[in-house]
Amino acid sequence: VPPARDRLRIAIQKSGRLADPARALLASCGLSWRESRDRLFCYGETLPVDLLLVRDDDIPGLIADGVCDLGVVGRNVLAEQGADRAANDRPAAFREWRSLGFGSCRLALAVPEGWAWQGPAQLAGMRIATSYPALLSRWLADQGVAAEVVLLSGSVEIAPRLGQADAVCDIVSSGATLAANQLKPVTTMFESEAVLAGPVAELDAVRGELAALLLRRLDGVLRMRH
Ligand code: PRP
Ligand code: ZN
Ligand code: MG
Repeated sequence: VPPARDRLRIAIQKSGRLADPARALLASCGLSWRESRDRLFCYGETLPVDLLLVRDDDIPGLIADGVCDLGVVGRNVLAEQGADRAANDRPAAFREWRSLGFGSCRLALAVPEGWAWQGPAQLAGMRIATSYPALLSRWLADQGVAAEVVLLSGSVEIAPRLGQADAVCDIVSSGATLAANQLKPVTTMFESEAVLAGPVAELDAVRGELAALLLRRLDGVLRMRH
């Protein structure tokens, strides 16, 4: 058993849409770090609260494994991995602690611009590329549509042009990525924004108190922003 950590560890996205606003939000809670910004680990100066800079998809697992205590991640990533755990009879290990009011986006079904969209039944027997297989499968089941889910970890938007898929299910923020690939969003499956994620189980005393302090400051900052 490793010794209990007496510092709080927060995972944030290393680069991408949520990286800068996540760091700015934590800084506005009075945190500061000794680091160069391309490092993986940032050592907390004002409080014993460290940052780990990682891929967003790794954040729920890091919390589940207790490697990190908290994380700033899209609700879409949390929901996908939560649905995947549930589908595999694994207990819930992470949950949303706070919604953070930035990084809003949606998980959408997108089809080639030339299609005349008539509704989900049109997808029967088609191949849909996504990085969100659990959320897509659940939506297809809800619609009563049998389609093939093609799992891709990135660059989902080029799958139709490559002949790998007929449609895609991916995150849309500005819509520029879809437009650049001659795709159009036709249905929203899930609305998302950045959230603070934490464990389902309680943190131990020392880290629990640090997390409570951080939440008090965060709630104050979020109130002032809205
Ligand atoms: C999503 C999606 C596209 C992009 C769309 O990736 O996969 O790459 O955002 O944004 P747009 O509508 O503004 O063009 P995301 O930022 O969720 O992160 P990822 O790189 O981890 O897939
Ligand atoms: Zn990602
Ligand atoms: Mg992407």
